[in-house]
Amino acid sequence: MNTLPVSAPSPHDLPGVDRHRTDTMFAVVQRRYGDVDVLEHRRIPRPELGEHEVLVRVAAAGVDRGVWHLMTGRPYLTRLAFGLRRPRNPVPGVDVAGVVEAVGVGVTRFAEGDRVFGHGHGTYAEFARADEDRLAAIPTGLDVTAAGVLAVTGTTALQAVEDHGRVRPGDQVLVLGASGGVGTYAVQIATALGGIVTGVASGSKLDAVRRLGAARVLDYRSQDPLAQADRYDVIIDTGGNRRLRDLRRALTPTGTLVIVGGENGGRLIGGIDRQIRAGLASTVSRQRLTTFVAREDAGHLERLADLVEHGHVTPVVDRTYPLPEAADAIAHLQSGRALGKIALVVEVGR
Ligand SMILES: NC(=O)c1ccc[n+]([C@@H]2O[C@H](COP(=O)([O-])OP(=O)(O)OC[C@H]3O[C@@H](n4cnc5c(N)ncnc54)[C@H](OP(=O)(O)O)[C@@H]3O)[C@@H](O)[C@H]2O)c1
Repeated sequence: MNTLPVSAPSPHDLPGVDRHRTDTMFAVVQRRYGDVDVLEHRRIPRPELGEHEVLVRVAAAGVDRGVWHLMTGRPYLTRLAFGLRRPRNPVPGVDVAGVVEAVGVGVTRFAEGDRVFGHGHGTYAEFARADEDRLAAIPTGLDVTAAGVLAVTGTTALQAVEDHGRVRPGDQVLVLGASGGVGTYAVQIATALGGIVTGVASGSKLDAVRRLGAARVLDYRSQDPLAQADRYDVIIDTGGNRRLRDLRRALTPTGTLVIVGGENGGRLIGGIDRQIRAGLASTVSRQRLTTFVAREDAGHLERLADLVEHGHVTPVVDRTYPLPEAADAIAHLQSGRALGKIALVVEVGR
C-alpha cells in the first residue's frame, strides 16, 4: 500500500485556496506532470458550480488510461489540451458515480439526492462538478462502484461498436484488447448486437473474455491475430498498435476498422499518425477505416445504462482502492495486470 502524502491546505500552493473555509474536501491533487509521486492527497475547496452544473458527492471513480496521460503529460501532444507546463485542472479523474449534492440554478435534469454516473471534472475527490448533460441515472440494480467505471470506457466502446463499427447481426467482429477497459465493454456490446466476436488478449485473461460473450479467443502473446486466414467485417482496435496494412488484410473487402487507440505509440504524438493515415487511406478504399474521439453526452450514457438494465453489459471491476491510494491504483493499471476496470472508492470524511 502506498498512501499519498496528506498535506495541510496552503493558500500558496493552489490559487483560490482559503485555509479558513469550511467547505473543503479531500482530493487527489497534482501540480506538475510526472510519475505517480506527483499525486498528493490534500484538502482543497469544494468546486463552485456553474449554472448548468451538478455537484456530485463521489462514491466511485474509474481509473483509465486518460488519467495516466494527464498525470504524465505524455504523449506531449496531449499537453495542448491538458495545459502546456502543468495540468490546468489539478484534480485528475473523469469517470464518476455518486449522489447529487447540489445543482446549479439552470439545472433541470437532476435534483439533490439523485444517484448519477457519467463524466465529471476532477472526480478523484470527495465532491466533483459535472455538466448536467454529461450525467445519467445509475442503472437500476447496478451498485455504485460498478457505475463508477461505466462512463469513460463504456461509452467509448459503445461508440466504437455501434456508431462507428455499425455491427449487425451475424458480423464477424475482432476485438483487439478484449480484456481491457474499452475491450471488455466492446465484447459485450458487439455480442448484444448479434456480432460473432473473436477477442484478443493475453493468455490468463482469455477465459474471462469468453465469459463476456466472445465466441473465440486468441492469445496475442503466442500467435499473431492478424496472420490467421480469418477475415472480419469489423475490427475494433484498442491495443497493440498494429500496422494499418496488417489490419486491412484481416478485413473483408468492405469491412470496417475502428481505431480506438493504443498505448506505447511514442512520447511525442502517441501513434496518432496511424489514425491519420487510416483516414486518408479510407478515402480511396471500399474498406471503412475510421477513428474517433469519444463524445461525452447523456444520450450515450442512457443507451449504455439501458444495455446494463437489460443484462447485456456488466462492468468488470478488477480491483478497488480507497481514494488516498490513487497512486497504487494507477500503478496497477500501468502494470497491465488488470482485467477490465479499476475503481477508486470514496468515503466522504475519511
Ligand atoms: N478514442 C477515444 O476516444 C478513446 C477513449 C478511451 C480510451 N482510448 C484509448 O484506447 C486504448 C485502450 O484503452 P483501455 O482503457 O481499454 O486500455 P487497457 O485497459 O489498458 O486495455 C488495453 C488492452 O490491450 C491489450 N493489449 C496489450 N497489448 C496488446 C497487443 N500487442 N495485442 C493485442 N492486445 C493488446 C491488453 O490485453 P492484456 O491486458 O490481456 O495484455 C488489454 O486488453 C488506450 O490507448 C486509450 O488511451 C481512446
